[in-house]
Amino acid sequence: MRSLEQALRAAYHNREALLSELHHQATDCYRLFHGSQEGSPGLTVDRYGPLLLVQSFHQPLERDALLTLHEQICTDLDLPLALVYNDRSQGNSRIDRNDPVYRAAPSALEDVIGHEWGLNYRVRARHSGQDPLLFLDLRNVRGWVKANSAGKSVLNLFAYTCGVGLCAAAGGAREVCNLDFAESNLAVGRENGALNPELAPMQFIQSDYFPAIRQLADMPIPQRRNRPLPDYPRLSPKQFDLVLLDPPAWSKSAFGTVDLLRDYQSLLKPALLATAENGVLICCNNLAKVDLDDWRDQVLRCATKAGRPAQDCQVLPPAADFPSTDGKPPLKVLMLQL
Ligand SMILES: C[S@@+](CC[C@H](N)C(=O)[O-])C[C@H]1O[C@@H](n2cnc3c(N)ncnc32)[C@H](O)[C@@H]1O
Repeated sequence: MRSLEQALRAAYHNREALLSELHHQATDCYRLFHGSQEGSPGLTVDRYGPLLLVQSFHQPLERDALLTLHEQICTDLDLPLALVYNDRSQGNSRIDRNDPVYRAAPSALEDVIGHEWGLNYRVRARHSGQDPLLFLDLRNVRGWVKANSAGKSVLNLFAYTCGVGLCAAAGGAREVCNLDFAESNLAVGRENGALNPELAPMQFIQSDYFPAIRQLADMPIPQRRNRPLPDYPRLSPKQFDLVLLDPPAWSKSAFGTVDLLRDYQSLLKPALLATAENGVLICCNNLAKVDLDDWRDQVLRCATKAGRPAQDCQVLPPAADFPSTDGKPPLKVLMLQL
C-alpha cells in the first residue's frame, strides 16, 4: 500500500492545473485530498483560505502523520496554512472536541474569510455545527448559478449558509430568496451578504421546507389527525426562474420527512411547481448509495407526472478536486430545463 505521504503527493500533482485555475479566479477554498478515492478512505484535507482543515471519518490520524501532512502541504502550496484537525470517527460523524491528537492554535479557530469565484465567505473550522459553513463539492453549481442568474428570480431551497444565493446575487439576479429552517445557518448567510457589500440584498425565509414550498407551489398543506401543526410563515404562491433544491440526506420535522433514498418525489414535486415556465430547476442528491441513472429516471418521471416535463436534463459533476475513479461521485446534480 502507498504511504499517506505518497498518496498526498499524487493528489497534489493531479490537482496542479486545477489549483492554478482556481487561484486565477480568486478561489482559495478547495479539497486537496479526497481520501475515499485517493488512497486513504475516510480522510479529507481541505484548504479554506488561511486554514488547512484535516478531517478523519473512520479512525483518528496519528499525530506524527498529521504534522507531516501539514508540513508537506504548506511546502507544496508555499503558504503557512493554520492547521485544524477534526476527528469525526465517532458516532454520527460528530467532531471529537476533546482533541486528544492535536489541539489547534486559538487563532485558527477564530472566524476567517474564504474566497470562491471572487466572493467572500465566512469560514469557521469549529462551531456548534459540524461542517465549516461552505460545502466545497458544490463549487461548480455555485459557479453555474453566478454565470446564469442575470435578471432572474432565484429560490435557494435548503439554503444552509446561502452560498448559492450569494452567487445568484453576484450574477445579477433581480431577486434572491434563501429558505432554511435553521436560523443559525441563515445568520451565516446574512454574514456572507455583509462580507460582500457590493451585492444587492438577499431575502431570507426561516421556515420548514414542506409548508413553505407547498404554499409557493399553491399546494395544500396536509393536516395531522392527532395534533395541530406548529406555526409556520405564510407565503403567497409564486414561481421562480431558477430554483436550487439541495436537501440533506435525511431530516424529520413535524411537517414531513426528507429522505433522499426512499422519497425524493415529495421534495421534488412542489419544487417543480414553484419553478416558472422555461425556468431551470437544479436538483441535488448527495447520497453515495443512490445511483445516478436510477435517480435521473425517477426525477424525469416525477417531472412528467407533475405536468412539468423536462425539455432538457444535464448532469453537472463536481470539479476535479472531488475525483471519482468509478464515475460515481456521491453528490449528483441534475439541471432541468422546464
Ligand atoms: C446539506 S445542507 C444544504 C447545503 C446548501 N444547499 C449549500 O448550498 O451549502 C442542508 C440544509 O437543510 C436544512 N434543512 C434540513 N431539513 C430542513 C427542513 N425540513 N426544512 C428546511 N430546511 C431544512 C438544514 O438546516 C441545512 O442548512
